[in-house]
Amino acid sequence: MPVKIAASILSADFARLGSQVQEALEAGADYIHVDVMDGHFVPNMTVGPFIVAAIKPIVQAAGALLDVHLMIEKPERLIPEFVQAGAENITVHVETCAHLHRTVQHIKESGVRAGVTLNPATPLIALEEILPYVDLLLVMSVNPGFGGQTYIPTSTARIARLRRMLDDMRLSHVELEVDGGIHPDNAAEIVRAGATVLVCGTSIFNGDGSIRENIAALRAGTL
Ligand code: DX5
Ligand code: ZN
Repeated sequence: MPVKIAASILSADFARLGSQVQEALEAGADYIHVDVMDGHFVPNMTVGPFIVAAIKPIVQAAGALLDVHLMIEKPERLIPEFVQAGAENITVHVETCAHLHRTVQHIKESGVRAGVTLNPATPLIALEEILPYVDLLLVMSVNPGFGGQTYIPTSTARIARLRRMLDDMRLSHVELEVDGGIHPDNAAEIVRAGATVLVCGTSIFNGDGSIRENIAALRAGTL
């Protein structure tokens, strides 16, 4: 199964968002990744459900998925709005959920795939009890809040440990997505460690070539 590419629009040119998303989809992006930040949980603010709704028709027409990463306090308050806007994956941080199991159930009962993620310094054990209930695990390989940061090298060992945990628990169907600092040069080691989805912002929208060339370079890097 080839690795999936999730294009993070955080690094896109928002004055030309529609055409940039279209270009990424035509180049074969599997997911469009939307980073939602509230200025509290992370020191930056970005977009809300309206951007998801705005790009939904383009993403749907291409047969791709809208992958929404919530870096916000009390994410349960906004789940209905993101579902309504057309999110297909909704991922929450374990650090933001007092009742993580309830929030995951809420996402799934809304007909959407549920993901959980954790900051680079949060021990993986925080995921152990929730793993049987999720569709997707997101490993942050930078501290959340900004695009264009450097991949934290110890993330590769974390991905490998999570892959072992999933396999040991017979949960190999759970997607293992990695987010932050991914480039053609490190994509192969991340995939070898067990990732099934790579989130890439800078390396797609601000790389050396066109969006098409940058996605092709990422794919080539994983071979
Ligand atoms: C960071 C976001 C990432 C970000 C990755 O908080 O979760 O999705 O867009 O950007 P790059 O690929 O530039 O590290
Ligand atoms: Zn993200």
